[in-house]
Amino acid sequence: MDAKRKEERYRRIADQLEELLKKDGDTISRMATIAAVLHPKMPHFFWTGFYRLMGNDLIAGPYQGPVACQMLDRSKGVCRACLDRCESIIVPDVEAFPGHIPCDSRSKSEIVIPVYDRNGNITAVLDVDSDRLNAFDEIDQKGLERIIGVMNAGTHTAS
Ligand code: SME
Repeated sequence: MDAKRKEERYRRIADQLEELLKKDGDTISRMATIAAVLHPKMPHFFWTGFYRLMGNDLIAGPYQGPVACQMLDRSKGVCRACLDRCESIIVPDVEAFPGHIPCDSRSKSEIVIPVYDRNGNITAVLDVDSDRLNAFDEIDQKGLERIIGVMNAGTHTAS
């Protein structure tokens, strides 16, 4: 998908989610809605979902795609790095990322976006994997960060 089309698609998805998430809702149901809307609309998405920070563990939340690890190792992985650095991470080639956790060997590249509560604490990450190398760029990062912003606006039950 070329850059313009991708930007436009993210814009439409964010607008749709803004409408869907307008009403107050539970954090988990909001995550489920985001994964369900996003996943089928982006051809380069192989796995789309959330890991929630519970205590010091990252536990699988709502997702779409093949079965994934339920709990991630505390000492490694792209999701953990996102948590530690408090910033979005794009991994063009997962094999080149030291400590990457392969939940499915078909995943080749990955992007992870932090999710904050209204106090600015990280509560989860949005993780997207692709079965293609180098599938994600700044357009994905901006698009997904906007979608996370939509999720947070009006969340009344942030965990
Ligand atoms: N690859 C991730 C683990 C989650 S799966 O990609 C769904 C990581 O290294 O943290």
